[in-house]
Amino acid sequence: MATGTILQKAIDLVTKATEEDRNKNYDEALKYYEHAVEYFLHSIKYEAQGERAKESIRQKCQQYLDRAEKLKAYLKKGKKKPVAAGDEGTKEEKKSDSGDSDTDSDPEKKKLQSRLEGAIIIERPNVKWSDVAGLDLAKEALKEAVILPIKFPHLFTGKRIPWKGILLFGPPGTGKSYLAKAVATEANNSNFLSVSSSDLVSKWLGESEKLVKNLFELARQRKPSIIFIDEVDSLCSSRSDNESESARRIKTEFLVQMQGVGNDNDGILVLGATNIPWVLDAAIRRRFEKRIYISLPEEHARATMFKLHLGDTPHTLTEDDFKQLASLTEGYSGADIGIIVRDALMQPVRLVQTATHFKHVRGPSPKDRNVIVDDLLTPCSPGDPDAIEMNWLEVESDKLCEPLVTMKYMLKSLSTTRPTVNEEDMVKLEKFKEDFGQEG
Ligand SMILES: Nc1ncnc2c1ncn2[C@@H]1O[C@H](COP(=O)(O)OP(=O)(O)OP(=O)(O)O)[C@@H](O)[C@H]1O
Ligand SMILES: [Mg+2]
Repeated sequence: MATGTILQKAIDLVTKATEEDRNKNYDEALKYYEHAVEYFLHSIKYEAQGERAKESIRQKCQQYLDRAEKLKAYLKKGKKKPVAAGDEGTKEEKKSDSGDSDTDSDPEKKKLQSRLEGAIIIERPNVKWSDVAGLDLAKEALKEAVILPIKFPHLFTGKRIPWKGILLFGPPGTGKSYLAKAVATEANNSNFLSVSSSDLVSKWLGESEKLVKNLFELARQRKPSIIFIDEVDSLCSSRSDNESESARRIKTEFLVQMQGVGNDNDGILVLGATNIPWVLDAAIRRRFEKRIYISLPEEHARATMFKLHLGDTPHTLTEDDFKQLASLTEGYSGADIGIIVRDALMQPVRLVQTATHFKHVRGPSPKDRNVIVDDLLTPCSPGDPDAIEMNWLEVESDKLCEPLVTMKYMLKSLSTTRPTVNEEDMVKLEKFKEDFGQEG
């Protein structure tokens, strides 16, 4: 990018932000401010020449961030007018959240903190236990760790303590992240803090471990809570001599926070997911007391997955067809099956696009499924007695009756989709399971 373009973009964004701010569109303004700050920081990093230029950009950033914080606080409360610039109101909150104030003046730091707060999922994803096919043991273990202790606290007194750390490991696309979403949905009495490793890694020395600390503090304040760290391997791989100082610090902080002196982790569950568990540091591994293997789906689970992925799309598949599909997809992961089904779902659309002849049929109107109409059009072969020569552009939008999804389409997609998981990784995962894990 040419010099100055990032800065220009940042300035444009900030102009928009102040405009929206003035017009009282605080939602929009906040978005623009945050965006702009990101660009400013980029320009400091890659463009700005000389310390003085950098310093002045930094100061500007600080102002915009302060304003953004206020807008955020205002939007959260949803009633009070945003306080005028210069008011100290929101600073107090910040401090109690972060637990350290020495770097308050660093815009990047503030940004990361707000990002950490943003990582808390407030809107719950809508994935139920029943949406996850198979994985019964994993589901049981998660219920035991998450739902039961909250519902029946008296069961978990004395020596019977709930699990504090659960690691989900297995080949890619088998539903580890998906299962975590189900936990977030179903455990609706606890706070679900979902963070990815990249939320926690910062380029500033000493900042990453503070973020880890903040994360756990946040969880303690809002307990019962669940901290979910996806792809935990990138954060906690084994300590070696040549790793960077900051990576080591993150790990150390993690070890201390998860099970250290003076840290009360009652009511906090750390849930991790990874597909390369063998790179995890041994001490981290130990802190995940339960390590559950999320394997490739069994035949039965695969059949369920085909059904789940089809959802309520109109189709002609029978129970036997699902069984046949399941038996043909040995070695496919849940994500692979998702792709097969999506491809199959697209084929009726392709047929509509390429058809040269249509015919009239009777069926539910696309506008209102409860109304049956006679004049729908569906693709047909040129040899059909009712065939009318036309293409899809001539079909009115509320007159199309799309062909149903059939077994033929499924088999066709299946023949062109290969499984993504390779043998080599499976061997390593099996080995890890033998050594450290349990079946899920
Ligand atoms: N057991 C399952 N039941 C239903 N859907 C599944 C299942 N497993 C996988 N899927 C489908 O596959 C998609 C991908 O799964 P997910 O993102 O959870 O994979 P993952 O195990 O986290 O993979 P990675 O290790 O690569 O992160 C999901 O969005 C879901 O649609
Ligand atoms: Mg995942």
